[in-house]
Amino acid sequence: MPLTTVILAAGQGTRMRSKLPKVLQPLAGQPLLAHVVATAVDVTGEAPIVVYGHGGEAVQAAFADAPVEWAEQAEQLGTGHAVAQALPRIADNDIVVVLYGDVPLITATTLNELIAAAGDDRLGVLTAQVDDPTGYGRIVRDAADRVMRIVEQKDANPAELEVNEINTGFIACRASLLRGWVNRLSSDNAQGEYYLTDVIEMAVADGVEVRTAQPYAIEEILGINDKRQLAAVESALRARRAEALLDAGVTLADPNRVDIRGTVVCGSDVFIDVNVVFEGEVKLDDNVRIGPNCVIRQTQIEQDCEILPNTVIDHAHIGPRCTIGPFARVRPETFLGSEVRIGNFVEVKKSAISKGSKVNHLSYVGDSRIGENVNVGAGTITCNYDGANKHRTVIGDGAFIGSGTQLVAPVRIGEGSTIGAGSTISKDTPANALTLARARQRSIEGWQRPQKQPKDGKK
Ligand code: UD1
Ligand code: CA
Repeated sequence: MPLTTVILAAGQGTRMRSKLPKVLQPLAGQPLLAHVVATAVDVTGEAPIVVYGHGGEAVQAAFADAPVEWAEQAEQLGTGHAVAQALPRIADNDIVVVLYGDVPLITATTLNELIAAAGDDRLGVLTAQVDDPTGYGRIVRDAADRVMRIVEQKDANPAELEVNEINTGFIACRASLLRGWVNRLSSDNAQGEYYLTDVIEMAVADGVEVRTAQPYAIEEILGINDKRQLAAVESALRARRAEALLDAGVTLADPNRVDIRGTVVCGSDVFIDVNVVFEGEVKLDDNVRIGPNCVIRQTQIEQDCEILPNTVIDHAHIGPRCTIGPFARVRPETFLGSEVRIGNFVEVKKSAISKGSKVNHLSYVGDSRIGENVNVGAGTITCNYDGANKHRTVIGDGAFIGSGTQLVAPVRIGEGSTIGAGSTISKDTPANALTLARARQRSIEGWQRPQKQPKDGKK
């Protein structure tokens, strides 16, 4: 059965009080619409048709590289009118699934239930039982419990307002049937809009069975109109992703205090402390421990590593059994071998550091290649930038860099080289020798400190 998804995203979203179009508001670091597009692609394997209107240029620009087809709805005349803008692009035999750009937590599992309810020749409607149905369209059933129609809140009579089964908005139906009904919609109602919901009554009149499906979790149907609802959905998504980690066997110090703005794949016996933020694709191998307040972006951390509190790691690859932090910053294109130690207030950028090497305190290592078992003393700086170009520092295996050294790149430190503390090294150093590049210390016997001069007029 060929499937096409239509995502309604033309609404303005004034209640967001933001210049950013509603469907571009970030949820877990990605635009709302991106979540819906991803689910649509997941269900159909094809690009969805997005009905856009308000902020159309910004929305299209944000999705320029995404698998999306566009249908413009210049004037927002209602949900039925919105679907009508997409239908000309859809083949008669396709099953159309209507989604919403501002209802981001819908799952593929639930949509497949809805598609099954529609089958080949029925109308599928996703409904839910809620305690407070205010604002939603109500599902009106007959004595035999068959769905007869949907009545919008503003058009409902007192008895209908009592109904707790609501329309989530999601429907599925063969395009040929939907086309016939959508073309006959009228705007003769309380809001003067072309209601998509009126197709239910038309289906019943045509003898087409209306079958309902229900979401697995109520958060799936939460729509977003303001920042409160955005925050509520963010927290629901945070919980969903934290639960997935727990189900995969990860230990979380507090599932309410881990943010996954991307994907995290974990090995066994991974521990994640509180207030950790993950972005992009992150992979944590067996026995990795992440301390509190870390931000980890687009990085693989191999087994048995410990990341200590307040560490930021971005676009890096961390070999096994490393210890990083606390308060370390590992920047893009950093590759650490095994058993590397990066300590507090150390910044590493675009560098490869091999097995067993240590940069323990207050250092900057950039554009460098550091061999095995190197010890970089506290306060060492690679001076990699001359104001115009970046230059490389290469440090051989077993070198010992004394504290407070400046390595003025391009420069090579030989294997087994020892650099005296406080040196400014601007020339390559030989292997296995001590190199010192600092003023020689001297002492002046009998030297007098300056005395304070008496002020004018005083003795
Ligand atoms: C709609 C349903 C209601 C349901 C509710 C669920 C109709 C008539 N009513 O009501 O039964 O309970 O959703 O949340 O369908 N949109 C467009 N173009 C338009 C109008 C709307 O793209 O011309 C988009 C909006 O951006 C929004 C969605 O469609 O994402 C829903 O529109 P909205 O006006 O919020 O519908 P509701 O009144 O909430
Ligand atoms: Ca709405």
